Order: sequence, then structure tokens, then C-alpha cells
Amino acid sequence: MERTYVMVKPDGVQRGLVGEVLRRIERRGLKIAALRMNTIAREVAEKHYSEHTEKPFFKSLIDFITSGPSVSMVIEGQNSVSVMREINGATNPIKAATGTIRGDFALDTGRNIVHASDSPESAKREIAIHFKESEVVGYSRIDETWLYEN
Ligand code: RTP
Ligand code: MG
Repeated sequence: MERTYVMVKPDGVQRGLVGEVLRRIERRGLKIAALRMNTIAREVAEKHYSEHTEKPFFKSLIDFITSGPSVSMVIEGQNSVSVMREINGATNPIKAATGTIRGDFALDTGRNIVHASDSPESAKREIAIHFKESEVVGYSRIDETWLYEN
């Protein structure tokens, strides 16, 4: 089972889309392994988005991500990293397919509602930034025998 880190960004919380995001994740068959709401500290946000330190949008991205409560989660399932990227849609919501979260609910790259790790390596790094190991729960969903062939 692969794990990924997912965030409902402050715009998603303010627009009342937490349930909508969780609904899409759960109905796909992915499992919530950790879940928390908090306002991310600046140092944590800078570490999370460290790959973008030199980008022109870095400061506004950090200002935005730390501007209010966000929902952090660890999501588990077969190929959860790539499946979550597909559920979220393209970074620029204008390019995001209808049926994706960004394609259905967003219009601006700087207000694109959700984050998901872009690789299994990023997922490990990001999960460790946002959660203690003891906060990530291991359990089986009762429908797993019908979700997976093996
Ligand atoms: P995320 O990390 O938030 O899941 O988004 P992503 O992988 O689809 O996109 P990434 O390239 O990692 O960019 C991180 C976030 O920075 C903001 N951004 N602004 N103004 C711009 O050109 C620009 N490019 C990226 C977006 O909020 C993006 O989600
Ligand atoms: Mg990214």
C-alpha cells in the first residue's frame, strides 16, 4: 500500500469544500490514514514547498498556505500518489479536466484548493513534515477485499 500527503488548502476550507474533497477520496476507495486541521506555521510551509524557494511565486504561495486553517491528511491505497494527482487535476485549474477537483471548483493557479505529493519520495518527505509516525493509523477498510483483486 502506497501513502501520499494531501492538503485542503485555506481556500478549500474557506469555501466549504473539505467534505467534497474527502468524499471524492473515500468513494474512490482510498483510505484516510491521518487527518488534521491546523494553520500551518511559516517554517513548516517553507519546508513543505522548499523545491519552489527560488520561484517568483514562493512568497505569495507561503503567505497563502499559512493564511488560515488547512486540512492535512495521509491517504493510503494502491498507487495513491498518482491516483490523488489525477483526482486533483492540473496545477492550473484552467487546464484541469472537468471531473477533477481543480477542474470543477477552481479558476486560478494560486487558489487551486488542494495539494498532493508528486512522487512516492515527495510523499515520504511531506508526511514526515506534517505528521508524527504515531499519528498515521494502520487499519483495513472493510471493502478492501472488493476494491483490490490481490
Ligand atoms: P501542489 O504542490 O500545491 O500540489 O501543486 P502542484 O504540484 O500541482 O504544483 P507545483 O508546481 O508544486 O506548485 C505548487 C503551488 O504553487 C502555486 N503556483 N503558482 N503563479 C504560478 O506560476 C504558480 N505556479 C505554482 C500553486 O498554488 C501550486 O499548487
Ligand atoms: Mg507540487
